[in-house]
Amino acid sequence: MMTEQNTAIKLLVLPGDGIGPEIMREVRHVISWLESRRGLSFDITEDVVGGASLAEYGEPIRDEVIEKAWAADAVLFGSVGDPKWAHVGFEKRPEVAILKLRQELGLFANLRPAKVFDALVDASTLKPDVVRGLDIMIVRETVGGIYFGNPRGIETLPDGSKRGVNTEVYTTSEIERVARVAFDLARKRSNRVCSVEKCNVMESGLLWKEVVTDVHAKEFPDVELSHMLADNCAMQMVRNPRQFDVIVTGNLFGDLLSDLASMLTGSLGMLPSATLGAVRENGKFPALYEPIHGSAPDIAGQGIANPIAQILSFAMLLRYSLNKQEEANMIEQAVSNVLESGLRTADIMSEGMARVGTSVMGEAIVRELDKLQK
Ligand code: IPM
Ligand code: MG
Repeated sequence: MMTEQNTAIKLLVLPGDGIGPEIMREVRHVISWLESRRGLSFDITEDVVGGASLAEYGEPIRDEVIEKAWAADAVLFGSVGDPKWAHVGFEKRPEVAILKLRQELGLFANLRPAKVFDALVDASTLKPDVVRGLDIMIVRETVGGIYFGNPRGIETLPDGSKRGVNTEVYTTSEIERVARVAFDLARKRSNRVCSVEKCNVMESGLLWKEVVTDVHAKEFPDVELSHMLADNCAMQMVRNPRQFDVIVTGNLFGDLLSDLASMLTGSLGMLPSATLGAVRENGKFPALYEPIHGSAPDIAGQGIANPIAQILSFAMLLRYSLNKQEEANMIEQAVSNVLESGLRTADIMSEGMARVGTSVMGEAIVRELDKLQK
């Protein structure tokens, strides 16, 4: 009989553009470490997406890559985006790669944690007292809303001027399923969900609020639920971010609020994310893990990017897709210990700390894993 140990875990690794490849290299070291020291075995396929794919194949992502994503136990994604392709049409932008993966795999729940590491409490632009111990989880809907709603497009009016259109659309079932993910997560955390929309001006927001309220009453009455308008939420997040546990919101507000939340922690370079799809008949679900930061073309290739968000994204993959809690905890602990020891990449550098590059940071995390294993 096959045991979990000798079934190789199928990973699709998509480094993408900019700093993607160089930070992904550090994850590969962590993976090798898990294979040699923890007996896990990975079957890894790597492919190109984004600008890298445009250069090689003339499109941001091939159907073949989507198929590989379906076949994998999980997808580890780097980042896409390259100013070289700024002039091309909308459909041929590097960003289409991630949007298409989300949509084709039905990855509707994007989990974006914003956690402040004790060692980095001074890296935040907010006062340490405001952010110490911060631990927020934003659950952002990622296959609906204004990103994908119809009608959309740019049309030319009779007078020659133009009209750009996008449409915010949410259906009951789209709201229900993402709300369930948020309530489920809250139960494993501090048991509080804040649902965010703009029901004061948008019908889609009003429906959002009604449906979340309904799901709560019927299925999760034990969880504490509050509602907040998106603009107020942005303000509250800066004023007193620790009031939040889980935030559940639509695609566009989630995009904005998660960038905001990430900066509370001091560095975008620290934050991982997971995007999960619906559970299938075999019990598996499609899932993609990626850092919140982008491809950072301005610092690409210099060996100075922070690999931590990519490494923590891999830890989330172990936790959510593979249920390898122990290994996930070890990686998170190793990152925390390395930060405590004073190592910093440029983006989180502060006085008195030791500035290191991408590979030295990666090596230090692997060395720390070695110590934790003993
Ligand atoms: C994100 C990014 C993407 C988004 C872009 C790259 C399409 O900003 O993952 O937050 O807007 O969803
Ligand atoms: Mg974003």
